[in-house]
Amino acid sequence: MNVLVVYATKTGVTEDIAKRLKDSCKQSLDVVSVKACTNEQLMKAEAFVLGAGVYIGKLHRNMRSFMKRHASRLLEKPLLMYVCAGEPEENLDDVLEISMPKNIQDHASRVLHTGGQFRYERMKPLTRWLIRAVQKNRDDASEPTINEQAIKRLIEAVDTL
Ligand SMILES: Cc1cc2nc3c(=O)[nH]c(=O)nc-3n(C[C@H](O)[C@H](O)[C@H](O)COP(=O)(O)O)c2cc1C
Repeated sequence: MNVLVVYATKTGVTEDIAKRLKDSCKQSLDVVSVKACTNEQLMKAEAFVLGAGVYIGKLHRNMRSFMKRHASRLLEKPLLMYVCAGEPEENLDDVLEISMPKNIQDHASRVLHTGGQFRYERMKPLTRWLIRAVQKNRDDASEPTINEQAIKRLIEAVDTL
């Protein structure tokens, strides 16, 4: 099956997971950033994997507009989603509620929370300063991490699309 992975990232975490999928899945995967994705790729795909980072409680803005713009095509094929986030999985429903169209949510076979990372070196200076300040003031100042178990489940889910 021709699976198209479309990702929206700011600091590269979601992109790296997309590349890991390409390396690890048995399916043949095309990987493209949401900005570069063409209509031709969308029409050729037999299934979709969407990946997005979470920013201020919402999925990456480019993924939100992509889902709205291409909803009718996305609804025609099997679809699953992974979400890179610093906050724990309990908050995922709220994020999806406000930033993923309900019909695509219902259509998705899975939405997996893969954890995330703060890549300070890839942030703009003001963002870096802000995130460091927020982290300092938290009771639990531990850094978010990628959930390797979730990545394993994601790979399995892609291979059973
Ligand atoms: C400015 C900023 C805001 C963020 N806001 C949230 C948030 O509201 N909820 C959350 O779970 N994670 C949040 N994160 C963490 C990101 O989702 C996490 O770093 C993710 O791995 C980023 O993925 P990306 O590198 O693909 O963009 C935020 C990160 C930054 C830099």
